[in-house]
Amino acid sequence: MTSNLTLALLQLPVGADVSLNVRRAVEGITQLKAENPELQLAILPESFNAPYGVEYFAKYAESIPDGATCRALSRLALQLGLYIIGGSIVERDAGKLYNTCTVWAPNGSLIGKHRKIHLFTMNIEAAHGGGVQFDEGAALTAGSELTVVKIGQHKVGIGICHDKRFEELARIYRNLGCSMLVYPSAFCICQGPMHWELLQRARATDNQLFVVTCSPARDNMSGYVAYGHSMIVDPWARVQREAGEGCEFIVEQIDFDMVEQVRRQIPIHQQRRTDVYAKARADS
Ligand SMILES: *[C@@H]1O[C@H](CO)[C@@H](O)[C@H](O)[C@H]1NC(C)=O
Ligand SMILES: *[C@@H]1O[C@H](CO)[C@@H](O)[C@H](O)[C@H]1NC(C)=O
Repeated sequence: MTSNLTLALLQLPVGADVSLNVRRAVEGITQLKAENPELQLAILPESFNAPYGVEYFAKYAESIPDGATCRALSRLALQLGLYIIGGSIVERDAGKLYNTCTVWAPNGSLIGKHRKIHLFTMNIEAAHGGGVQFDEGAALTAGSELTVVKIGQHKVGIGICHDKRFEELARIYRNLGCSMLVYPSAFCICQGPMHWELLQRARATDNQLFVVTCSPARDNMSGYVAYGHSMIVDPWARVQREAGEGCEFIVEQIDFDMVEQVRRQIPIHQQRRTDVYAKARADS
């Protein structure tokens, strides 16, 4: 079993036309697979099928797995024989809405469904780059489960955007045996320059695994301007690949042996002093 994985990040533009957004994703993955037969995994951005904004969530919500977007991803995974981490869409279930990532196996079956656990809540003052208020909780319900999928032999933990700010979630994924974390994300341009790369490299430093994000392309005219900069960070916490701001596709091979190498050479996990922490911990 090879420890290499070839993956693609599709930093796609997202507009108001759902079928156009989905067609761009399908055509993009199809083109990349034709050009790179070794491609095993394609990753899409958060909210890749519809505009992102509290006022849009109910309008664009679909059911999982029988909605039109899911059926397109399932068919595509089967047709091309690859895994797809389907960014996120707004899911409607039993009268509630969730921001949900679906994961598809090469046989077209749904192998994971992650509902964003930490809803995006932010009130940035104007002094910090223009000012942004956002509260996903006004329209969405938070997920309450972690999501680990197997991509080939490798365990991968899934989070969505704001989830990557929460180091405990990443640590639990690491303890569950994950060697990669994938966060489809749409950071705004005010938090992006400060925290996008920093958070991704922080999660990689702490947990010694690959950390991958995929953003929509930036559109200055959109109501919510996504940062771009989709990125692969390696287990040494180095940026292995980074997109710019516009529409861009990245294809990259990663080597999972690097996870074991880093953990052996800097064995912080074995050095943890859980006895000391337990004694000192004020909360649970
Ligand atoms: C499809 O693939 C997944 C993951 O490899 C596997 O768990 C599942 O049983 C397969 N489903 C079918 C119908 O073969
Ligand atoms: C968006 O605006 C920024 C600065 O205002 C500019 O640097 C960038 O090129 C623009 N991007 C696009 C895709 O128009």
